[in-house]
Amino acid sequence: MKVVLRINQPNLGEEEVEAATDVLREGILTHKSGAGPRVLQFEREFASYVGARFAVAVNSGTAALHASLLASDVGPGDEVLLPSFTFSATAEAILLAGARPVFVDIDPKTYCMDVENIEEKITGRTKAIIPVHLYGLPADMDLINEVAKRNDLVVIEDGAQAHGAEYQKRKIGSISDMTCFSFYGTKNMTTGEGGMITTNDGEIAERLRAIRSHGEERPYTSSRLGHNYRMPELSAAIGSVQLKKLPTFLERRRKNALYLTKSLENIKGLELPSEPENRKHAWNLYTIRLRGSNAGKRNRIVQKLRSRNIEVTVYYETPIHFMPLYRRFRSHLPETERAARQVLSLPVHPSITLKDLDRIATELKRIILER
Ligand SMILES: Cc1ncc(COP(=O)(O)O)c(C=O)c1O
Repeated sequence: MKVVLRINQPNLGEEEVEAATDVLREGILTHKSGAGPRVLQFEREFASYVGARFAVAVNSGTAALHASLLASDVGPGDEVLLPSFTFSATAEAILLAGARPVFVDIDPKTYCMDVENIEEKITGRTKAIIPVHLYGLPADMDLINEVAKRNDLVVIEDGAQAHGAEYQKRKIGSISDMTCFSFYGTKNMTTGEGGMITTNDGEIAERLRAIRSHGEERPYTSSRLGHNYRMPELSAAIGSVQLKKLPTFLERRRKNALYLTKSLENIKGLELPSEPENRKHAWNLYTIRLRGSNAGKRNRIVQKLRSRNIEVTVYYETPIHFMPLYRRFRSHLPETERAARQVLSLPVHPSITLKDLDRIATELKRIILER
């Protein structure tokens, strides 16, 4: 029986076990404002890693997005621009804030927001833009921030898949008003569940800290709407260890991605992921696209690879604007819809070996060549 190659999986060692055990021995599991000693340490380390002035830890990437919208005073009557080709949490955070999601099409090469389409969708009600760095590749942040500045919009980056990615030599997390990260088990580093918001604005950081614990300006005195979005100390302790390992994880992901590219080059009708100049991919997923005569074969390829214990996955088969909850926010997004029919993602996580990648490439080629 062949081992199942997972699309992504946590990479944990004795160091994480020790860090978690230390927290349990010390007995401080949480803090009433969410700012326990391990959380504070993890926040300092994360801010320093991405090159932001502040980092605020929360208990999921979804919480990070929702808290960022609340901190921007986004609410009923406001519109927020986002891609439909992303995980549903990006849109969900907007609904949770009471605002209206307005879906923007993607660039077919990078799968990130198409800046021209952003401009077309801006109205007098638009308050914020949430670009998503899909699969770990940064969106075109200079152009997006320039449009945002011209139209007085807040920019909240969804970097849930992009820890360690870079744009113009700057790490994602250091560029816009706020950047949200997720530490869910499939991400480039994990705390099981968890999230982080980074910002260079001290006032925004203060607001975010209040929002993560019931909007309290001081204990038991709420001054704005918040939530319980506190990160547990156990998660923060694991996060600090994972962050130290992140550069190594990223190197292995890059090496695996480049190896796959070498193995799959020159196959007709197969488009490989791109890394535009001045953008550094974080390779959370290696996403290929079937074009031309192969375009109709995507689902068959997925099924066959899965039957051979290779867990390829389609991110995202159902764009958000097609989901029952979001159909009422009707949009015409031809590039999104095409990509949803043609893409599939292959694993490049740190535990995948070159031998595994050889197996994936061989199987994939064989299936593509089948009539
Ligand atoms: C693009 C994107 N946004 C938001 C999220 C939500 O993060 P979380 O699962 O930590 O709530 C995820 C991950 O799951 C994601 O991939």
